[in-house]
Amino acid sequence: MPSRAFYLSTPIYYVNARPHIGHTYTTVVADVIARRRRALGEEVWFLTGTDEHGQKIERSAANAGTAPQQFTDQVSAEFRGLWDRMGLSYDDFIRTTEDRHKRGVAKLWNVLKERGFLYKGTYTGQYCVWDELYVEAGPGAPCPDCGRTTETVSEENYFFKLSAFENRLLTLYAEQPDFIQPETRRNEVLAFVRGGLRDLSVSRTSFKWGIPVPGDPSHVIYVWLDALANYITALGYGSDDESLFGKFWPAQLHVIGKEISRFHCVYWPAFLMAAGLPLPRAVVAHGWLLFEQSKMSKSRGNIVRAETILAVLGADALRYFLLREIVFGQDGSFSFDALVGRYNADLANGYGNLVSRTLAMIVKYCEGVVPDGASDPVIGDQAGMTIDAVAGEFQGLNFSKALEAAWAYITSVDGFLSANTPWKRPAHISEKDEAVWRSGILYTAAEAIRILTALVYPVIPEAAAKVWAQLGLGEIKQADLRHLSWGGLQPGTRLGALGPVFPRADKDAAERMQAMELENTKTAPAAKPDTNPQAPEAVPAPSDPVFASLNPALPQSPSIVLTPDQVPTGPLPLGVFEPGLQSFEDAALVGQIAAPAPIEMVSASEVLAGAGAPKPDALPQITIDDFMKVELRVAQILVAERVPKADKLLRLEVDLGYERRQILAGIAETYAPEALVGRKVVIVANLAPRKLRGLESNGMVVAASLGERGKPALAGFLDEVELGARLK
Ligand code: ME8
Ligand code: MG
Repeated sequence: MPSRAFYLSTPIYYVNARPHIGHTYTTVVADVIARRRRALGEEVWFLTGTDEHGQKIERSAANAGTAPQQFTDQVSAEFRGLWDRMGLSYDDFIRTTEDRHKRGVAKLWNVLKERGFLYKGTYTGQYCVWDELYVEAGPGAPCPDCGRTTETVSEENYFFKLSAFENRLLTLYAEQPDFIQPETRRNEVLAFVRGGLRDLSVSRTSFKWGIPVPGDPSHVIYVWLDALANYITALGYGSDDESLFGKFWPAQLHVIGKEISRFHCVYWPAFLMAAGLPLPRAVVAHGWLLFEQSKMSKSRGNIVRAETILAVLGADALRYFLLREIVFGQDGSFSFDALVGRYNADLANGYGNLVSRTLAMIVKYCEGVVPDGASDPVIGDQAGMTIDAVAGEFQGLNFSKALEAAWAYITSVDGFLSANTPWKRPAHISEKDEAVWRSGILYTAAEAIRILTALVYPVIPEAAAKVWAQLGLGEIKQADLRHLSWGGLQPGTRLGALGPVFPRADKDAAERMQAMELENTKTAPAAKPDTNPQAPEAVPAPSDPVFASLNPALPQSPSIVLTPDQVPTGPLPLGVFEPGLQSFEDAALVGQIAAPAPIEMVSASEVLAGAGAPKPDALPQITIDDFMKVELRVAQILVAERVPKADKLLRLEVDLGYERRQILAGIAETYAPEALVGRKVVIVANLAPRKLRGLESNGMVVAASLGERGKPALAGFLDEVELGARLK
């Protein structure tokens, strides 16, 4: 049966600052929709990406003292790295600085021009650089959207005949009432169009960072025309291969935040109509995530980063919170307390606890095999109703209601277990009937968990995958929601290995996350606009009180004392072995001994004169060939986390451009993991793999070793360096 094509997108995010959970919200919503659609057997194409042109980005790069392309490369990689870390299932990530995009935009321009919708004129008026928005107001007036002072622009521009589309747009909104959702946004857009549309300036000449107008390169194309086109250029519009475009365009859904409705519901359909292209099926605008009473945004500096939540509670916790707590379409508040509250109540004590108590009983009473028992008809019927309710609410994008329905079922199954006490045979059940009686109860609970898990998979995929495997069903990948019905769990299925799904968060989890964010704002001016998001972050010293409070109860490593025969021979390096290290190589790996001694530049005359600092330890000379055996490369840290029971070790995942790998580094006493993410370091790429605390380490991070205790200081660069670049 041919499956339906479902194309959906998020906005492409500006790269003038780092991602925060406002961006994460939109991208997670799209991911949830994509996962559910796939599970329904539809062929999904899920697009996200970054918006990299325009005056705002040009200025941000200049402020950072970086060339725009390098600047955008860095921040775009951060967005993408975060989405990857969160396991978001996007099919394509478009960057507006890619050739495929520029080609497509040039084609769109030419088509608009040929069809007579572009003309040259002079624009004199106000422009808001922050919103990249033309504003109809007098000189010096504030931007109606963000309140910043607008700038006066007087330029020769190309204009797009937006005024010609007033009636056609009004007809579109009338004929396709769900083109803009929800209703409140629709009313705003309607009012705007009814108020009359003026032609739109679609080129600029006063700066350079954009796509040049074909045939008139002193102009760059207006950044919103450039950006909106991403939805078609990503499918190959304007390239030699338009097969994806043919298959997936028009989009079923553009998911956006409410502040960019006008661009998506007025300009975008007008551009498409003018180009003779089909219109997207719908645009849905969600509300804002508020933090400390106002819209979370880089300019206000009141942001929360997903990284912090991932480090403490994991991606599923954030996903669940965003979808459950916020009524989709409305503004909603974020707070760490509410996050931890939801996590403990719904995930740890709700779903997680139901799973662990049920499966533990199957292990205890049924030897870890799903028993063959008569299922409870009420719980069975409720499963069917829950499947329908969840489907209906998802269809209407009422995520919070969908989850409410699923969690009502959890409460019901929990109540069923408590009422039937499978751990304690009631008097009316004879000993002879005990096994049959218990099998019915446990089968019922296990089957309910299977259904629930398939239903919640789009929202909490990581946990659902674990539970699926624990149920003995293998990989969840795409739980097929089309055939989900009561009774699918086969008796006799052997459970997989059990383990915690959502361990309870301790009571200071919220405080810890708050402290991490505070630390980040202190150390990363990147959160402010027009500063370099990549500026090296100051590393909190371990004695810093805020930092020290982050992980107050770090587990201590067991004391293993090296016996004399474990002490390495040969030239003894700086530093001493710490307890817990088994060998010379372990010690080297965790930075307990000097990696190559600190390099010092001393001029020849100083050497002759015997000047300069004394060389701490002399090594035999090597040839250049010897040196070339060491493969030193630039890598970027994507993930950094502490290793349980090893207070010096961090587990890093680094990106070499061509490959991603895990490295264990003994730098946890000096570097907070969250300060390392995004940082570029030098690694020894051809070091033989080693196991440390059961984890494989593939390489070594190079650091200078300072002072007697050998405090590490990571090597880095002042210049821009590509990932994977070799040091030689
Ligand atoms: O507008 N609450 O990019 P942008 C909810 N490049 N969502 C939020 C949010 C918050 N506090 N903050 C940001 C642009 N978002 C253009 C888009 S599309 C062709 C070009 C989300 O970096 C939300 O989806 O300002 C919002 O619309 C988007 O990020 C704005 O991202
Ligand atoms: Mg914005």
